[in-house]
Amino acid sequence: MIKKGMIATLVFILMFALVGCGGSTEKTTSKEQKKKITVVTNPSFAPFEYMDKGEIVGFDIDLLKAVMDEAGLEYELKGIGWDPLFAAIQGKTADMAVSGITINDDRKKTYDFSIPYFESTHMILVKEGSSIKSAKDLQGKVVGVQNGTTGQEAVEKILGKENKNIKKFEDTVVAIMDLLNGGVEAVVTDNAVANEYIKNNPDAKIVAFEDPDHFESEFYGFMFPKGSELKQKVDEALKKVIENGTYTEIYKKWFGTEPNIESLQQ
Ligand code: ARG
Repeated sequence: MIKKGMIATLVFILMFALVGCGGSTEKTTSKEQKKKITVVTNPSFAPFEYMDKGEIVGFDIDLLKAVMDEAGLEYELKGIGWDPLFAAIQGKTADMAVSGITINDDRKKTYDFSIPYFESTHMILVKEGSSIKSAKDLQGKVVGVQNGTTGQEAVEKILGKENKNIKKFEDTVVAIMDLLNGGVEAVVTDNAVANEYIKNNPDAKIVAFEDPDHFESEFYGFMFPKGSELKQKVDEALKKVIENGTYTEIYKKWFGTEPNIESLQQ
């Protein structure tokens, strides 16, 4: 009798423990899923991210959605400035940034990056008929760049870091406006952004060209605070999205051509 009673009690305790455990695991998962990830972007960089009828849209934004859906992660997207974006990731007030951000060694010291998702190079934008035909011709000219970008670095390499002729703008769009107004004689920015501007503003009489001798190819990635656990989840999802054709669809929607996926994987 005593034995039976003990076994019954044991079984009861065991069942209770199992049910209890199951319950608590469930609770943590739903809590984790509810915690929205804050993603920041600087939406003045068409076609990657820009404002359209009060909404942030673009190639990066579609890719972000595909990746987060694939990873099963909920997120909230916030438009902020370019410099504040880096501050937010460094200070961990945001979990992730997408903004046509070039992965480079200097940034890698402070931030973590996903695997690359886009290959880019720089272009020089000038007014039609300009005497500037190559990066070398930028010598002695007033050149506009977005402050804190790899475009600024590229120009500094050519003109020298302290050169007063390098005019720094908070936004790429504002730099291009200044070119139209004659404030600068050239703007150096990412090739897809230069091409998009020309396509959308055929009457602006602006042309753009590359200079492979001076501008190297670079790659964009999603950016995270150093040591972020999100990186691995996002990398896995991004890999899937690239392999399953979703990336190609998004790329074609925004650029009208097939992506060179191999260049991303090398
Ligand atoms: N790719 C360049 C960089 O990382 C420019 C990116 C600017 N992006 C933006 N949303 N304004 O420096």
